[in-house]
Amino acid sequence: MNVVILAAGQGKRMRSDLPKVLHRLGGRPLLGHVLETARELGAGKICVVYGHGGESVREALDAPDLIWVKQELQLGTGHAVLQTLTFLDDGAPTLVLYGDVPLIGAATLSRLAEVAGNGLAVLTEFLEDPTGYGRIVRDDDGRVRRIVEHRDASDDERAIDEINTGFMAAPTAALKRWLPALGNNNAQGEYYLTDIVRLAIGEDMAVATTQPDAGWEVLGVNSKVQLAELERIHQRNNALLLMESGVTLADPERIDVRGELDCGRDVSIDVNCVFEGRVVLGNGVEVGAHCVLRNAVIGAGTRIAPFSHIEEAEAGRDCRIGPFARLRPGTRLADEVHIGNFVEVKNSTVADKSKANHLAYVGDATVGKNVNVGAGTITCNYDGANKHRTVIEDDVFIGSDTQLVAPVTVGRGATLGAGTTLTQDAPPEKLTLTRVKQLTVPGWKRPIKKK
Ligand code: UD1
Ligand code: CA
Repeated sequence: MNVVILAAGQGKRMRSDLPKVLHRLGGRPLLGHVLETARELGAGKICVVYGHGGESVREALDAPDLIWVKQELQLGTGHAVLQTLTFLDDGAPTLVLYGDVPLIGAATLSRLAEVAGNGLAVLTEFLEDPTGYGRIVRDDDGRVRRIVEHRDASDDERAIDEINTGFMAAPTAALKRWLPALGNNNAQGEYYLTDIVRLAIGEDMAVATTQPDAGWEVLGVNSKVQLAELERIHQRNNALLLMESGVTLADPERIDVRGELDCGRDVSIDVNCVFEGRVVLGNGVEVGAHCVLRNAVIGAGTRIAPFSHIEEAEAGRDCRIGPFARLRPGTRLADEVHIGNFVEVKNSTVADKSKANHLAYVGDATVGKNVNVGAGTITCNYDGANKHRTVIEDDVFIGSDTQLVAPVTVGRGATLGAGTTLTQDAPPEKLTLTRVKQLTVPGWKRPIKKK
């Protein structure tokens, strides 16, 4: 099918310099959600109608399967679809979607296309308060006659509780006849897409209707309040899918997935965790409260204690991370690694069973197996101009409060005494100390305050 996505509206009520359809829901632009759904439907052609200031929309979301059509002046929904006609294949029906209605489901749209058959179909909804929406006017036999906009409707018509959601499926060849024939003699002086219903009836074409699987699918975003409401719906849906796939959530209302979260079996996630980009959690992974993970891959059995922050990093199996750990981009932990509280690791690999349990900075380092990094250890990786690497070979023991001034290598099995400032390589298997020898000064007296 052809898909037309209307996205030319300015979105004034967002009170933002960012075009409305680029505001994010679940970490992704509103229009990105609609594009994904269109692709899920197997759309042959996707035309996006964009408007003033929309070049940034195009830059943000451009892809080879998209046709961008500029609507210079927003003269109405019918005028918007009219701009796309030359790009649509007559052989397939056309589905009209909206860039600011991001939660529409592929199943609902497939059904809309199905009920359309070779005719027209409108997705409708019954609302307790239909104020503002176009109303579906039916005849005594229940057949759709036309859609009347709220501002053009009589009191009787305003009492109709069946509204137009805006989503339509139409035969493309017919659209090419109807849209150029639309007038704008109405309360808003706009070319209404909804007027094609009357034109279809005039040609004795059937007009079918169906309703969305869930009411929230057709909610649009016009303000930050509505954006926040849809965000909660989207997150609740994500949480339900996770739980249905076997993930334990301490509280489904307190998890935010802003991207893609892939979980193995028996994963459990405590409250207030945020997942961004693509995150993969292996079997049995436990994520403690208040963690933020962005583009991370965590191996089976690894436990992440509360308040840890992990970004562009990987951990192997059975690691212990946190509480209050920070894994920055380029961190690769092998298996059974322990990274404890207030430890920051960046652009470093740490091999099996090594530990840095307290207050350390490991940056631009290659750390071997079975290494113990003492509390307060720092790799001095930056000389003010360039970054340098630190290599710590297998079975090294680094005493507390050590500075490793890179580039420097600590040989296999070496021990560094507490308080070492290492500026040259430390030989393997030996104890290396750099601090001054302990000295007690004979006869020294503490100064006394003068009267
Ligand atoms: C439209 C429907 C109305 C329906 C309602 C559902 C028409 C005439 N009316 O009304 O029956 O109940 O949606 O929300 O279709 N747009 C463009 N270019 C334009 C005009 C609009 O791209 O020239 C886009 C807007 O950005 C928006 C969408 O189309 O995303 C709907 O336009 P809007 O003006 O909000 O239509 P409504 O008046 O709400
Ligand atoms: Ca609207």
